[in-house]
Amino acid sequence: MKFKVQIGDITKIETDAVIVNLFEGVKKPGGGTGAVDTALGGAIADLIEQGEIKGKLNELTIIHSLGKLPARIVAVAGLGKQSEFTADGVRKVMAQTCRSLRRLNCKHIATIVHGAGAGGLEPRVAAQAITEGTLMGLYTFRKYNTKAQEYEDVAELVIVEHDKERQQEMEEGCRIGRIMAEAANFARDLINEPANNMTPSILASVAGDVAKQYGLDISILDKEQMKAEGMGGLLGVSQGSDQPPKLIMMNYKGGKESEPALCLVGKGITFDSGGISLKPSEKMDSMKGDMSGAAAVISAMMAIAQLKPALNVMAVVPSTENLPSGKALKPGDIIKTLSGKTVEVVNTDAEGRLILADALGYAQKRSLSHMVDIATLTGACMVALGTVCSGVFTNNQEFVDKVIEAGKQAGECMWQLPMYDDYKELNKSDIADIKNTGGRYGGAITAAQFLAEFVDEVPWVHIDIAGTFETDKEKGYQVKGATGVAVRTLISLALLLSEKN
Ligand code: BES
Ligand code: MN
Ligand code: ZN
Repeated sequence: MKFKVQIGDITKIETDAVIVNLFEGVKKPGGGTGAVDTALGGAIADLIEQGEIKGKLNELTIIHSLGKLPARIVAVAGLGKQSEFTADGVRKVMAQTCRSLRRLNCKHIATIVHGAGAGGLEPRVAAQAITEGTLMGLYTFRKYNTKAQEYEDVAELVIVEHDKERQQEMEEGCRIGRIMAEAANFARDLINEPANNMTPSILASVAGDVAKQYGLDISILDKEQMKAEGMGGLLGVSQGSDQPPKLIMMNYKGGKESEPALCLVGKGITFDSGGISLKPSEKMDSMKGDMSGAAAVISAMMAIAQLKPALNVMAVVPSTENLPSGKALKPGDIIKTLSGKTVEVVNTDAEGRLILADALGYAQKRSLSHMVDIATLTGACMVALGTVCSGVFTNNQEFVDKVIEAGKQAGECMWQLPMYDDYKELNKSDIADIKNTGGRYGGAITAAQFLAEFVDEVPWVHIDIAGTFETDKEKGYQVKGATGVAVRTLISLALLLSEKN
């Protein structure tokens, strides 16, 4: 899909549809909306007067121009209350409006810039949000549908602005927005892919393609190398599967050679059956998405390589299937992790923390400034926070505040959960250094405390995306299936950390 910033008059644009907007309570539309209203002979003001258009958030009114404008359709999108307006509102409005226009066979769409005037957003931020919302909202995963879709894809979005001074900033916003959204959609593709076509080997080869295309260093450890490193956690989980495990490491060098790196670690279980502690079969299919953390990390690296922030970023992705077999880990087995710590595996379904323990240990052999891990780690996190927020956990308040701020910029909610020492005791084992579950209560926290055992001094944040990695509803810029959560937060975080101040 093409994006363009054009200086001109929205009423003169040759296109299928133009999108204008209205804040709640506005009686007489101004700006681009006012100009379109005049061209339509006051139709918009009329509909406001009649009480049909109120400007409420998510309200969409389709007006057919009947030749009064070159565009066949005028879409009036409600922006809600001006005082509550945010960049994420722009993303959602664009996503919903463009999906509706796609159903009306609009292939070319033009829009005014939502939020840059009365909304108080910087033109760059507004253009970025328009681009992100549109690209993410129009996402589809149709590679396995043999029947043609009922509508054609939108080919082009033109952002129409009257002020030439803003063009460059807005074009920059478009460029960043496209890179961010394409990365999120790339993660969605990887996560939506069924596990028969997304094995650890395939994931590693996708990472290899990304590295090659965007100029990142990559190395992939195989089973023998894992043995040499002493990765008993990753090897243990993988031993029940016929698919070989992989550990993917990617490097972006935007800082000085000697500068410690931001490290991103992503859980890459390409299918989680639970192992011998087998999951119930209902909804087990969604466990093809248990590599969402891995997808987020690989996709964020893809964007970081294009946006080129001035810092070093490293990605570590441990990847395996978790399956039962005659060779699989059994409840009660004890394994030895890379750190030397032994773990009693009381539940083979708590596999994520076992592979992450090794990955965190492996990452910390390098010089790191910060470390973030992203994982679909616990059903308990979903019970605690539902599908709205991801859970965050830390050993460093200043750093988690940065991660939450990066999330805010991306429109991704995060809620911090506590790390009191008393939770740690629940992971105590009688016969090994630690056991891999702390029981049902506070399960998201005891899982985070388990990971903390494998983190040394480095400022660290754990993001549990079990509740947010997929959705069964079309809403805003989310569509059914994988959400691509955390990708844009991680990119924003890298940009935030690279700002010298
Ligand atoms: N991948 C699951 C967690 C999960 C559940 C993610 C639902 C997304 C949606 C993880 O490996 C798991 O099975 N965790 C167990 C841990 C328990 C055995 C301590 C869980 O949450 O039940
Ligand atoms: Mn599991
Ligand atoms: Zn899992």
